[in-house]
Amino acid sequence: MRGLDGKAILIAGGGGGIGAGAAERLASEGARLMIGDLFVEGAEACAARIRAAGGDAIAMAYDQAEEASIAALVSAAVDRFGKLDCVLANAADMQSIMVDGDAISCPLDVFDRSIQVDMRGYFLIARHALPHLIESKGAIAFTSSASSVIGEPERVAYGMAKAGVNALMRHIASRWGKKGVRSNAILPGFVFTEKTRGNLPEEFHRHAVAATRSTRLGEPEDIAAMVAMLFSDDGQWINGQTLSVDGGATMR
Ligand SMILES: NC(=O)c1ccc[n+]([C@@H]2O[C@H](COP(=O)([O-])OP(=O)(O)OC[C@H]3O[C@@H](n4cnc5c(N)ncnc54)[C@H](O)[C@@H]3O)[C@@H](O)[C@H]2O)c1
Repeated sequence: MRGLDGKAILIAGGGGGIGAGAAERLASEGARLMIGDLFVEGAEACAARIRAAGGDAIAMAYDQAEEASIAALVSAAVDRFGKLDCVLANAADMQSIMVDGDAISCPLDVFDRSIQVDMRGYFLIARHALPHLIESKGAIAFTSSASSVIGEPERVAYGMAKAGVNALMRHIASRWGKKGVRSNAILPGFVFTEKTRGNLPEEFHRHAVAATRSTRLGEPEDIAAMVAMLFSDDGQWINGQTLSVDGGATMR
C-alpha cells in the first residue's frame, strides 16, 4: 500500500486477534505503532514481535471502559510520535458476547457492559483522538461486525453496540470529512483468532463456512489488509463506509 511508511498509528485493542494482526501488517509497511490493550501482556508481545522484525512499536495498558484511561492512551501515542495519523478502535468485551442474549433474556449488567466498552468506549476514543486527526488530516477506522446489520436473533447488546459504532463512524465522516478526516467501519464475518482456533466444534465450522460465499473462514490478515488499505494513500477516497470483509457471508 502507498503512504503507510512513517505513519503514527494507534491500535486500541491490539493484545491479540484482529488488532494484533492489523498492528503487524501496518508495521510491515513501515508504520509506527502504539498498541493498547487491557491484556497488556498480549500488546507487549505484539510490540516485541514487531520490534524483532525491525519495526517500531510500543505497548500500553488501557481500559476501554474508562475515559481517563482512553485519554491517557491517546496522549501517550501523541507524546511518543509527536502526531497521530490513524487510529483503529478495535477492542470489544468478548466475555460479554458469551453471556449476551435476546431482548428478553439479556442480563442488564451484560447489556450495560457491552454498551460501555463496545460503543461508549469507541465514542471516547474518537472524542480524544479527533483533535489530533483533524490536525494530521488522518483516518479513523472502527472494527464493527456483521452483527450490526444482519439482525441476529441472539447477541442483542453486541449488535446494538456495533450498530451504534456504525452511526458514530458516519457522523465523523459527515462532520469532519471536509477537514480531511476519513472515517470507516470494517464489518468482519467469522475470523479465527488464537482464542477460537482449535476450539471450534466441527459442526459449527461447517455451518459457518456454508454461510459464506467462500471456501474458508476469515483470518486476522484478511481484516488487516482492509485496515492497511483504509489507512494508506490508496484509500484516500474511501469515507463514511461500512465495509464487509466476510467471505461474502453478507451481500448489501
Ligand atoms: N473474530 C471475529 O470473528 C469477529 C467478527 C466480527 C467482529 N469482530 C470484532 O473484532 C474486534 C477484535 O476481536 P477479536 O476477534 O480479535 O477478539 P480478541 O478477543 O482477540 O480481541 C479483543 C481485544 O480487546 C481487548 N479488550 C477487551 N476488553 C477491553 C477493555 N475494556 N479495554 C481494553 N481492551 C479490551 C482484549 O484484551 C483483546 O485483546 C472486536 O471489536 C470484535 O467485536 C470479531
